[in-house]
Amino acid sequence: MIDSIDSIHEREPPRVRLANLPTRGHWLRFGQNDRPRDEHERFKIWLKRDDLTGSELMGNKVRKLEYLMADALAEDATHVITCGGEQSNHARATAFAAAQLGLKSILILRTDDPENPPGPTGNILLDRLVGAELQWISRSAWRDRNQLLAEAAERVRRAGDRPYVIPEGGSNALGAWGYIRAMHELVEDLRGIAVPDHPVTIVYACGSGGTGAGLLLGAKLLGLAQRGIRVAGINVCDDRAYFIDVIRRICAEANARWQLDASVAEADIDIVDGHVGRGYAKSRPEELATIRDICRSDGVVLDPVYTGKAFHGLLTELAADPARFGTAVAFLHTGGMFGLFAPSDIAQVL
Ligand SMILES: Cc1ncc(COP(=O)(O)O)c(C=O)c1O
Repeated sequence: MIDSIDSIHEREPPRVRLANLPTRGHWLRFGQNDRPRDEHERFKIWLKRDDLTGSELMGNKVRKLEYLMADALAEDATHVITCGGEQSNHARATAFAAAQLGLKSILILRTDDPENPPGPTGNILLDRLVGAELQWISRSAWRDRNQLLAEAAERVRRAGDRPYVIPEGGSNALGAWGYIRAMHELVEDLRGIAVPDHPVTIVYACGSGGTGAGLLLGAKLLGLAQRGIRVAGINVCDDRAYFIDVIRRICAEANARWQLDASVAEADIDIVDGHVGRGYAKSRPEELATIRDICRSDGVVLDPVYTGKAFHGLLTELAADPARFGTAVAFLHTGGMFGLFAPSDIAQVL
């Protein structure tokens, strides 16, 4: 099951195949109207469809899980344990990856009132359908999430089983390999779409830093800055300083563990702050309208928490400074569609 025959790097750790790869990409029709309503609608954007990595496993998380679950299997784990927000895509993808590999899952999920947890909608419905054990915690308890993960692991051990803990978002050095690999795919994609000597920026939604860390490590390993390919994350929670710190830490850990010689400095990390809006998982009407508009122009569904918010941020940046991302943008669609089926205000923009 573990397969690294098509290795991307001599130090690549073992990987279990879970995702449908490579994902395809295409130009968006969005913004190419004859009479754009806004200046930002004139930009042409290419979309990398990592929402098509799977159905139950859809999105960016499965790329990280290919390495994390390989490690869990190598450790002969019986249970995987992870954490996230109540509608966590990562938690749902982990629960399904576990089920597909014959393992059990425990998900520690943050919610406003753990005594009255949210009903089965969106990702929660899928978590329950696949039989994950759900442990609801408050926002204040979330600060101690790593301790809670360790306690859950201890509980599994005491029952005679073998736990494997995956951090929030699958965002650690091992998970980052998912996007080191994705960067190899993107380089091939960009070969077909980029104009030589014209800078291209890969723009992604940043939520726990692992996708960004992997893309930046991949970009370093492949020497992409010299080829005019840059990477920029739009954070959907926290702030720029927080993500620079997280991404540097993940990259440093990966460099130390696999001697990659791909050091990522603060100057390499472009985090575009200012688009968190009302806060994590809270939408403004204009963000929801962007989700509606791209759906109508291209038949592509973005999600309200990550990709819709980041894509709206991208349009806002382009409207303010058309040269902000060079001459072309490749937007990474990291999935998240099930989040649309949780209670939200999306119906108000239909
Ligand atoms: C749909 C979606 N897009 C983007 C992200 C952000 O990725 P990362 O956590 O690696 O920063 C996440 C998860 O946090 C996600 O679920």
